[in-house]
Amino acid sequence: MTKTRFGIIGVGGWGEFHVRVLQDHPFAQVTAVCDANIGRARSVAEKYGIPFATEDFHQLLKQDDVDSVSIITPDFAHLEPTLAALESGKNVLVEKPMATTLEDCIRISDLASRSKGKFMVDFHNRWSPPFYKAKDAIDKGELGKVQMISYRLNDTIFVPTKMLSWSGKSTVMWFIGSHSLDTLFWLFGKPLQRVYSVARSEVLASKGITTPDYYCCILEFEGGGTAMLENGWILSESTPNIIDLKCSILGSEGTIYIDGSHHRMLQKYTATEATYPDVFVLPTVYGKPGGFAAESIRHFADCIVENKQPMVGAKEGLAVTKAILAIEESVRSGHPVTLSK
Ligand SMILES: NC(=O)c1ccc[n+]([C@@H]2O[C@H](COP(=O)([O-])OP(=O)(O)OC[C@H]3O[C@@H](n4cnc5c(N)ncnc54)[C@H](O)[C@@H]3O)[C@@H](O)[C@H]2O)c1
Repeated sequence: MTKTRFGIIGVGGWGEFHVRVLQDHPFAQVTAVCDANIGRARSVAEKYGIPFATEDFHQLLKQDDVDSVSIITPDFAHLEPTLAALESGKNVLVEKPMATTLEDCIRISDLASRSKGKFMVDFHNRWSPPFYKAKDAIDKGELGKVQMISYRLNDTIFVPTKMLSWSGKSTVMWFIGSHSLDTLFWLFGKPLQRVYSVARSEVLASKGITTPDYYCCILEFEGGGTAMLENGWILSESTPNIIDLKCSILGSEGTIYIDGSHHRMLQKYTATEATYPDVFVLPTVYGKPGGFAAESIRHFADCIVENKQPMVGAKEGLAVTKAILAIEESVRSGHPVTLSK
């Protein structure tokens, strides 16, 4: 089988993870990288033996040996490379959120629907084993009708203050709320009808980062289901895992509890710290990238080589952006916001 040849646009922290996963895939190969920071592009190219590095994504898209593209630029910088990659007819995997305005999402959706290439948004929670099991139980009717989901996903303050240089230009809702919302839409399987949300800016603002500390949302779905969603960026750095993920799903005939972060499968105590290292999001095992974060990227490469449609696309990307914009409107107005059909 011939390999699909990837160009990676944006090789910061998460872009390098895409490189590792794709270099490890039996039928994929990374042939070009691009980063606005050319030093970073060159060092990633050298580290992984990639022949071409550039700071201009148009140059990457002109390469004859690039037929698929991963776009891993910051949350607010997905539009231009995504449109250009779709216009050039490549297969395109874009990180979440697909784009941060409705108009931009519609432009991407329109182009993706006309493109001969595959298109996917990296909503990787759909590959997370506990969420997969929960969805399977819901689909089999084991829980009856889903009544209420409580979903909490927080990052430690390390993420907005030390990991991301651009957190002040995004929000925790774009960064991890996008994953939470896609998961809720997938589990309920019904359109979102109404949202009410509160956000506050105090802790991060006091450190000069102008972005909300957290969002507390109530989401109402068609058919009567309700969700409570909490996404925050101010967990203490000393918490034993970089994320805190809890989810409870209450159905008319069954219940599921998920603890995605503090399940204590692995507890590590050293002279100076106690941690619960990640074992299923993106652990490295014998040097290979494992976990469900790698599975979604592999799925995209699999779909290209097997000529299948990726499981998540522009429709899901648009639904998430629409929801986040409604959440922002509710935060601003202090009132519930009904989503347009
Ligand atoms: N699926 C996940 O769980 C997950 C995890 C982390 C990050 N992400 C997403 O990945 C994206 C990047 O996040 P990150 O943590 O890697 O950030 P990062 O800051 O580490 O990397 C972003 C890189 O993009 C480069 N860049 C910016 N504009 C560019 C442009 N126009 N052309 C080429 N390069 C450009 C920057 O120089 C930087 O190296 C974000 O959208 C983020 O939400 C997803």
